[in-house]
Amino acid sequence: MAILQILQYPDERLHTIARKVVQVNDVTRKLVRDMAETMYAAPGVGLAATQVDVHEQVIVVDISETHDQLRVFINPEILRHSGESEGEEGCLSVPGIYEKVRRADHVTVQALDQEGKSFTVQAEGFLAVCIQHEMDHLRGKVFVEYLSQLKQTRLRAKLKKRRREAL
Ligand code: NI
Repeated sequence: MAILQILQYPDERLHTIARKVVQVNDVTRKLVRDMAETMYAAPGVGLAATQVDVHEQVIVVDISETHDQLRVFINPEILRHSGESEGEEGCLSVPGIYEKVRRADHVTVQALDQEGKSFTVQAEGFLAVCIQHEMDHLRGKVFVEYLSQLKQTRLRAKLKKRRREAL
């Protein structure tokens, strides 16, 4: 296993649209293992392949406190969504920034598992939020892009300053 480098916003590569996985195989499974290790090490509750510069539709999520309930979604699709709620989100590609985002509070998602088998899951609350957040990454969208232009401009300036100070 390996810990992968996570792209940092506003890296242009975060805007890449991920391809569907054509065949779930050992390469996919290795990617999933590395992504899970990277997510746990960060630590975070979700990671999309886009964030590690692999542009295929793969996401991993684990919202358990014990870090032993890994969920893998390959080629995920939202079949149904309902309700709406606003919650604070963060992202491993935008460290230290937490902002409120409005999303569906119930989603039914269909995806492939690590064996290439199709499954459907109904998610609500925080899990639903995480899945939608990670699926956005696959479409090249980072959660801060839901904010107003003014807020985004301020955020980019803040991150730039922080990066300069870190050097
Ligand atoms: Ni994220």
